[in-house]
Amino acid sequence: MIEQRAFGSTGLTVSAVGLGAGQVGERDVTEPQAERLLQGALDAGVTLVDTALSYGSSEERIGRHLAGRRDTFVLSSKGGSGVEGHADWSAGAVRASVEQTLRRTRSEHVDVFFLHSCSLEVLRRGEVQDALDAEVAADRVRVPGYSGDNEALAFAAASGRFGALECSVNLLDRWNLHHVVGRDPGLGVIAKRPVANAPWRFAERPTGHYAELYWERLRALDLDPGDLGPEGWTALALRFSAYAPGVHTAIVGTANLEHLLANLDAAAAGPLPPDALERLDEAWGRVGTDWPSST
Ligand SMILES: NC(=O)c1ccc[n+]([C@@H]2O[C@H](COP(=O)([O-])OP(=O)(O)OC[C@H]3O[C@@H](n4cnc5c(N)ncnc54)[C@H](OP(=O)(O)O)[C@@H]3O)[C@@H](O)[C@H]2O)c1
Repeated sequence: MIEQRAFGSTGLTVSAVGLGAGQVGERDVTEPQAERLLQGALDAGVTLVDTALSYGSSEERIGRHLAGRRDTFVLSSKGGSGVEGHADWSAGAVRASVEQTLRRTRSEHVDVFFLHSCSLEVLRRGEVQDALDAEVAADRVRVPGYSGDNEALAFAAASGRFGALECSVNLLDRWNLHHVVGRDPGLGVIAKRPVANAPWRFAERPTGHYAELYWERLRALDLDPGDLGPEGWTALALRFSAYAPGVHTAIVGTANLEHLLANLDAAAAGPLPPDALERLDEAWGRVGTDWPSST
């Protein structure tokens, strides 16, 4: 079974690998496929499901298929912009986002609610943090969180206004890891894009795909996965992210249950051995130190 960990000092417990439920909201995923994935994830020991207002039908599907098991997993969602009738990053937009999440997921509370990538300027104003605090006071949100990267993430982490962070962390994306994650051990940390959008799937540059930036970085690092371990890139990447210092859960995005189960097996092997980490560190030190995190 996958390791369960305290989520910073939030009082929540999460699996070392969580489910990134972005893909489960996509149109080409059928309802039976979504149900199989969501039920199968919990059956396999996953105890954190991450969604967002903007992930298509993801929140509705979580509500439809997991409402009866709601007390067995930590639900994190995200919002604050794109809500009809409210200016982006206003108090009203935060309140309406939470309301929508509760309605769609058929929940009385959401365990962690993240501001979904608002800018540093918005964070400096403070209005959205106050709105999130009001949701906590009303017992509709347990932990207020910030989801974002780079300088905005650093500001959020140091502000004392959040109990949790969600940010990019993977073997091709370390700015957040080196500058923010783990500095405050009380903050719960979710690693997004933990397998770097699996750029090793593409022989040619995947122009316009999420994985394009990581595809470039993979080539620049010039590493042979065979030198790092026998299990191949996806498993190596997940073992890097799930055991990165300060990370509590690595949310792999997939609607494919077989992929999720393979990922849970890979993570059960534990952290990468020191010699593999050393090779990755050496390659990073050679070309990656100035690379910002992907948003
Ligand atoms: N807060 C934010 O702004 C933000 C941004 C990005 C992501 N996220 C969250 O983070 C989650 C994960 O991020 P992500 O999906 O962008 O990146 P990711 O988890 O690094 O990569 C997902 C990709 O990896 C593939 N994959 C996963 N396991 C695999 C396996 N065992 N074998 C082969 N391919 C595999 C998936 O393909 P298949 O579908 O074929 O399995 C999918 O295309 C999202 O679902 C979302 O919850 C949040």
